[in-house]
This record gives sequence, structure tokens and C-alpha cells, in this order.
Amino acid sequence: MPREDADQALPEAREAGLPGAVAHVYPLGSRINAAGHLEIGGCDTIELAREFGTPAYVYAEDDMRERARVVTQAFARRTERFGVVYASKAFPCTAALRLFAEAGLDCDVASGGELHMALAGGFGADRIYMHGNNKSDRELEEALAAAVGHIVVDSFDEIDRLERLTGDASQRVLLRVTPGIEPETHASIRTGQADSKFGIPMAHVGQAIERCSQAGLELRGLHAHIGSQVYALDVYEALADVLLQIGDLPLLNLGGGFGIAYTRDERPPSADEYAEAMLRGAPRDVTVLCEPGRSLVGNAGVSLYTVGTVKEIPGVRTYVSVDGGMSDNIRPMLYGAVYEADLAARFGDSTPCRIAGMHCESGDVLVPEAALEDPRPGDILVIPATGAYGHAMANNYNAVRRPPVIFCREGDARVVVRRETYDDLTLRDR
Ligand code: LLP
Repeated sequence: MPREDADQALPEAREAGLPGAVAHVYPLGSRINAAGHLEIGGCDTIELAREFGTPAYVYAEDDMRERARVVTQAFARRTERFGVVYASKAFPCTAALRLFAEAGLDCDVASGGELHMALAGGFGADRIYMHGNNKSDRELEEALAAAVGHIVVDSFDEIDRLERLTGDASQRVLLRVTPGIEPETHASIRTGQADSKFGIPMAHVGQAIERCSQAGLELRGLHAHIGSQVYALDVYEALADVLLQIGDLPLLNLGGGFGIAYTRDERPPSADEYAEAMLRGAPRDVTVLCEPGRSLVGNAGVSLYTVGTVKEIPGVRTYVSVDGGMSDNIRPMLYGAVYEADLAARFGDSTPCRIAGMHCESGDVLVPEAALEDPRPGDILVIPATGAYGHAMANNYNAVRRPPVIFCREGDARVVVRRETYDDLTLRDR
């Protein structure tokens, strides 16, 4: 859904000084410097590639801070009763968790590992929401031992487990429900439809509320997450309606899913519009929680690669191969996700080409239809908007070492996650 006023809340994006209409896809404050190179967080990306190597995930720290501030403000302008919960799965990285903890957000974790990282990042346990459709006894014990603020209960079996594990102690919980709402987005990132492994089916919600009380759990509210990269606002209003009809509880967690721009044509709604849609139907005494992941980190990060080969197949196409691929960004292969690509030192689109990775698979294509400015071996290639679910879903296919994460701010760059070493690859082998 194109929206003229989309980035009004983030005016810096429009002044980024990047060519064409692509500025809003790059981190806030990105620009082309005097040398003609792309600059992220005040750092020259050509120099970053030289210093830290490629592939690398490069983030503008201030972009994440600004987005946390903007979404918080969007709610604060409308109500005193709200919470912004960072969905840490989008970018599980201690430094990012610390940044969002400092920005005053709460945190959504969906496994024992994410819980461990959120605590390491400095989130107070009371600010943590523990998710998962199949939490193990061990994970529940870890959550209880850490004294997490809320456990988001997802099934009757989990209520039984919690009853056993909490004993006489009380634990605050939310009940995740399956509202039967289907937003328009890729089928694999849709979660609100009736046929879903997540949440309690609508027909059983009354019974689940009763079971929570029998089990001695303190039911504080309801939760639903209908999907990800959701551009349509009306589904959030519909969701609030459905949940409010269930009952009168203090907390209403409407999940995440706020969309971002991956390509120049995409104009997601603003944080203000999402906040408005979520709050429209909510009574004043209900605290509305949102759980954004992608929208806080997606446009903050880019991936840097080095072009290794440029292969022209006469009458077919030109393949530009880079030193990463499906191990550092599996989204194009999993979801058909579409990205832009540019050369860090030469923005332009004279050469139609396909950007392929280095993995032993024909499907290892990062951008099927790209246009670069005369690509050559040695060029630094940048793919913007890889900040969410890139590092998070990275893997070691072909024994490729996972890339480092570099945070840039006012011209200073620091490694917040180091590149894996060959030794890391054999570390667990016995
Ligand atoms: N809350 C819950 C309970 C979730 O399951 C998710 C995402 C979020 C919040 C955050 O959603 P976001 O604001 O980031 O859209 N790997 C996929 C995305 C899967 C999202 C899973 N749950 C991708 O790369 O697009």
C-alpha cells in the first residue's frame, strides 16, 4: 500500500542524500560522501570492508535508537497505557538488546537462548515476555528462575506444566489466542489464521482462561500476533475487536508485524499509523502492548559483500557473484523476499544482472533481477534492509563462517559480534 506520508515521522530518511528514490531503504543518516562512497552511521563502507572484511552486517546505531523513540512517541502521544516490546528474534545481538533496554523498551523472547541473551543485554527480568508454542520444561524452569515478568501461555499442555512447575508460587501470564485473522503477507510469516500451531483456538479460549485460574496462574491479558511485514492497518483494529470481546483484562498484546521498505517502491505505514490502528478500539483502562521486531532493526542494517566474479552468459544474463549468500541471508530463498543492491562506490543501474551467492546451490540467489553500475571483481556490493532476520537466521552452510556485526555511529565503527573463525566451525565436533 503506497503512502505519501509514510516517513513523516522519520524526516531524516528523506534528507539522506542518497541517489534516486532508494534513500528510505537505507539506514537513517546514510549518504554518499565526498569520495563518492556510501556512508552508514558516518562510516565509509569501502573503508569498513577494508578494515573488517566482507561479508559483514553493518548497522547505523542511531537508526535503531531513533526508531525505538519514534514508535514509543507514537503510542505516548495517544495514551499513557502502552508498552513497546522488542521482538528480539529479529536481531538477537547483545549490543542491540542493550540499546533497546536503554531505550526503555520491554523484550519478547521465544526460547531459552533468547531469554539468556535478553538478560545478558541488560533487560530486567520483569520486562521480559517469554513466548513459544512448545516451551520445554527446562525453558519454563529457566523463565521462572529468572522471574520473567510474563509467560505467554500457548497451549493447555503448557498450563499443566506451569501448574506443576510453579507449585504454590504465582506467575503472571498472558494467553496467546489464535484470532482467525489472515493479513496479506507471505504464507510462512502469517500466524493469526485458524489453522496455526500458535495460540489457543478461539473456541477454547474460555476454557483456557478457566484453566489458568485453576492452575493458580495470574492471567493478566491476551496476546495475538497475526503475522509479519503487515502493511494493512485494518487487521490490527479487527484484532483488537476480537480480543476485547473475549473479556476484560488489563493487558492487550497485539503482537508485531509492522512493515518496512525492502525496495524503493515500498512505503510502509508510519509508526503513528500503526499506533493509531492498534489503539483506536481499546478502552482507556486497557494497556496495549505492541511487539515490533523487524521495524526496529530492518532498515538499520545493510550487508556488505565483495564481488568476486562477473560472468556474462551470451543471450542469457550476467551473474555477479559475491562472497556470501544463503548462509547470511536466507530470506530470498525462504520467502522470495526481494531486495535492492548497489555498489558502495558507484550507485547507478547501467548493468542488469543477477546477484548470486557463493554456495553450492543454484537457488543461492540474493537478488534475481538487479541493476548495478558496471560491476567488476573487487567492488563492494551493498544490500540494504538486511537488519532483521539476516544475522538472526544466518547459518554455516558449506562451512561458511558467519559474518561479523559492526555498529557505526558518528563515524566510529565497533565490532559487536566478531566473525566466526575456522576453529569455531570444528569447536563442537567430538
Ligand atoms: N511477536 C511474536 C509473537 C512473533 O512471533 C513475532 C515474529 C514478532 C512479535 C515480531 O514480528 P515482526 O515485527 O518482526 O514482524 N523470519 C521471518 C519473520 C518471522 C517472524 C516470526 N515472528 C522473516 O524473515 O520475514
